[in-house]
Amino acid sequence: MHTKKIQSLAERYFDEMVQVRRHLHRHPEVSYQEFETTEYIIERLRELDIEIDRPLETGCVGVLKGDQASDRVIALRADIDALAIQEVGEHKQEFISQNEGVAHCCGHDSHTANLLGTAHILNELKGEIDGTVLLIFQPAEEKLPGGGRLLCETGYLQEKGVDVIYGLHSSPFLKPGQIGIKKGPLMARPDEFNIEIIGKGGHAASPHETVDPVVLAAQAVTSIQTIASRNIDPSEPVVITIGKISGGTAHNIIPEKVEMIGTIRTFSQKTAQFISQRIEKIVKGITESADANYTFKFDPGYPAVDNTDWATDIVIESASEIIGKDQVKILEKPIMAGEDFAFYQQEFPGVFFFLGSGGDSVGAVHPWHHPRYNVDEECFKTGAALMASLVFQPLPSNGE
Ligand code: NI
Repeated sequence: MHTKKIQSLAERYFDEMVQVRRHLHRHPEVSYQEFETTEYIIERLRELDIEIDRPLETGCVGVLKGDQASDRVIALRADIDALAIQEVGEHKQEFISQNEGVAHCCGHDSHTANLLGTAHILNELKGEIDGTVLLIFQPAEEKLPGGGRLLCETGYLQEKGVDVIYGLHSSPFLKPGQIGIKKGPLMARPDEFNIEIIGKGGHAASPHETVDPVVLAAQAVTSIQTIASRNIDPSEPVVITIGKISGGTAHNIIPEKVEMIGTIRTFSQKTAQFISQRIEKIVKGITESADANYTFKFDPGYPAVDNTDWATDIVIESASEIIGKDQVKILEKPIMAGEDFAFYQQEFPGVFFFLGSGGDSVGAVHPWHHPRYNVDEECFKTGAALMASLVFQPLPSNGE
């Protein structure tokens, strides 16, 4: 292992990573529209003479071939898209988003900068790399169907024969110099649903001549919450959230229709499907009893992020060498947020982990998708070094 060497290279390229991250932060682009971001990444990879593949319209893959020719293929993945959100940033004034209503409030700018730093490190150590490294700059993590899914569907990675894939996400809950990781389920399946309750509109003063969809929607919201508490094994983590309700136009009108959209978080497709059926049954029962109508639509999201045991051991070992064993935080419980990294894990062994990026001094204290989300850039020293060191770890023989 080249831990010391890799660490000193991560220090050497630290300023560059900061600059790259700030450039990307200033110029965010939403999912599937990452055209300038992609061009920028390609320019940076070209400076290193790294070969570039473009299996999707946006995003790209840097193909770094080691001098030790073997058929090992290690994939490192960063996501590159921003969110449709208006940024607020006392701590980011210098590099605040120049694109109205779009901002890197999930840290994907830092993931991209970190992987470009890793590219620099690996390029210097090319003589010692055994096999090929794929540097995946993936578009559209934030929006269904998901760039991870689309990339897997092209068959590109299967053709390359990926042996293992690693990905990370910045985490405000840990400090730079720490990582969070666990074997098995790490992040939930996020499925979506849409409900329409269609009643009969009229004057607010004559409710008896109408079928009020607002009252029915209120009943539905409350009843849907009993699914998690009454129909699911209490030891199984489940969340059902209705995130948006819209209906009505004025204080004295009963509207025709109320729309609701929401998300279901689980760790199995079976549970997600069961919940979806329960929601529809509840809505059907409530609307039928009031002579109203409904529509219900279930949109399957990403699978759950589920870390491969042996590859998780590799990350834990590498990280322990870089930051010390006590800074490798083994998470006890999975979290209910979703990640399209899960699609890669359907195809290949893989590990996703959290890179500590929280810090009071730069206001990196807000959760993901908060308009003030920020990362402590110190995290690059650990993140880039760790991603690079994973490339040098032996793989289990016969895939285990
Ligand atoms: Ni994210």
